[in-house]
Amino acid sequence: MAEPLNNHIPFITDSSVIDWLQERGLEMQRLMTYYRCAMLEVETKFKVLDAEYSMQHDRNPINSVKTRLKKFESIIEKLERRNLPFSINSIEENLNDIAGVRVICSFVEDVYTLAEALLNQDDVQLIERKDYIQNPKSNGYRSLHLIVAIPIFLENEKRMMKVEIQLRTIAMDCWASLEHQLHYKKDYEFDDESMAKLYECAQLSMKLDTIMDELRAKSNI
Ligand code: GTP
Ligand code: MG
Repeated sequence: MAEPLNNHIPFITDSSVIDWLQERGLEMQRLMTYYRCAMLEVETKFKVLDAEYSMQHDRNPINSVKTRLKKFESIIEKLERRNLPFSINSIEENLNDIAGVRVICSFVEDVYTLAEALLNQDDVQLIERKDYIQNPKSNGYRSLHLIVAIPIFLENEKRMMKVEIQLRTIAMDCWASLEHQLHYKKDYEFDDESMAKLYECAQLSMKLDTIMDELRAKSNI
C-alpha cells in the first residue's frame, strides 16, 4: 500500500504545488509506489547475489543494503533548480534518483563483481554508469554509480522504472557519510584547509581499501 504523502505537505508553502497535489496527488502516490516496488526489486536482487556468493565463497560481499525514496519536497526542489516542468511525466523522464539503493560492499573487487552480476541479468537495463572509483571526484568522493531501469509487474502491465544504485566499500561509505554530515549546514562553506583535510581523509580511505584488497587477494578469499 502507498504511504500517504501527507507527512511532507506541511513543508510545502507554494500554493501552486498544493493545487497540483490536490489534482494529481493520487497519481503521484501511485508513481511513488512504483518506485518503491522497483527499489525493493533491486534490493532483493542484491540480497540474492549476496546469498549465492556466500554459499560459493564462504563470505559475504555485501556488508549492508540501504534504500531510500526521494522526499516530495526534494523532488520539487530539484525540478525547480533544474528549471524542469512540474508534472508526473517530467518527474519520470528527468529524475533518475527517485528510488535509491546503496550497496555497501566488503572489498573494492566486490563492487565490480556485484555490479557486473546485476547488469548481466536480462531484465536489468543500464542507462548510465559513473565510475567515481576509477575517476574520483575532485573532493575525493569515490563510489560506483549506476542508473538502471528494471521492470515491475503490475496487475495488467509491465512497467520499466529507473533506480539509482550506489556501490561502495565500507571505507568509501565512511568517508561519504561523514563528508555529507559535515556539509549538512548548507550555508557553511569549507575553507581550503578543510577541503584539503577532507581530501586527505579520502586518500586514507583509498589506501585502506587498497591494503584490504591486497590482503583479500593474498588470503585467496
Ligand atoms: P544529483 O547530485 O543527484 O543531482 O545528480 P548528479 O547527476 O550530479 O549525480 P552523481 O552521480 O554525481 O551523484 C549522485 C549522488 O551521489 C548524490 O546525491 C550523493 O548521494 C552521492 N554523491 C555524489 N557526490 C558526492 C560527494 O561529493 N559527497 C557525498 N557524500 N556524496 C556524493
Ligand atoms: Mg541525487
